[in-house]
Amino acid sequence: MDNPISQFIEERKARIKANGHNESLKASAKAFNDASNSNQYSYNFSWMGRPIIQYPQDMIAMQEIIWEVKPDLIIETGIAHGGSLIYYASLLELIGKGEVLGIDIDIRKHNKAEIEKHPMFKRIKMLEGSSISEDIIGQVKSIAKDKQKILVILDSNHTYDHVLRELELYSPFVSLSSYIVVFDTIVEDLPANYFKEERPWGIGNNPKTAVFEFLKKNTDFVIDKEIDNKLLISVAPQGYLKRIK
Ligand SMILES: C[S@@+](CC[C@H](N)C(=O)[O-])C[C@H]1O[C@@H](n2cnc3c(N)ncnc32)[C@H](O)[C@@H]1O
Repeated sequence: MDNPISQFIEERKARIKANGHNESLKASAKAFNDASNSNQYSYNFSWMGRPIIQYPQDMIAMQEIIWEVKPDLIIETGIAHGGSLIYYASLLELIGKGEVLGIDIDIRKHNKAEIEKHPMFKRIKMLEGSSISEDIIGQVKSIAKDKQKILVILDSNHTYDHVLRELELYSPFVSLSSYIVVFDTIVEDLPANYFKEERPWGIGNNPKTAVFEFLKKNTDFVIDKEIDNKLLISVAPQGYLKRIK
């Protein structure tokens, strides 16, 4: 290893792998995850001027993945204000290649206008419709057909049925050694009756239970435990799935 910073990170990774984090750090992280999710912590941030509904830790993990994979295409379901699309597009801009395809059932007019006038829009395409509809999948197929390296991110409707269907439909696009990242798996780990407002998902019916069902039949993918081990604070525990064959 010629670079001392990489060497430092590699040594630290090996230490975490061998010994884990200490128990008090894990307990503090769990307390933060539990308290911060009910306080809508993910709504605090923006990227290059657009609100991004994410935890910073997860976005650093995404940066590490994007740098490693150097995708030609990133497909993300769930656009909202467009912050995550702009974030991924800005990383591709720094790398110097690739585009982002965002899909949302309801792209609000003002969000669409802001995304379209953003300097990173040159690397972004958007489709409006349900991520699991035949029409949208047909369009995704035609955009993905010439792309070699593809990364997929699922961040739309967080029910078990919807995410499982997304996993089935979008996992074939993922190239070898790339990822399908499933956000909001944290829902399964939060205390019961946790959310103040009514949501269609909850314990047993959420992205993590969909991931577990998907992995029973899809042995081409594994949970990247190294990412879980180091993040501790994340809305996607056991949601970073790597294609290994
Ligand atoms: C959590 S937000 C996405 C946040 C965004 N990825 C970010 O990081 O800023 C979820 C989005 O999913 C969209 N959505 C809900 N159901 C959907 C569906 N069936 N297909 C596509 N998008 C859907 C919603 O309209 C909403 O904009």
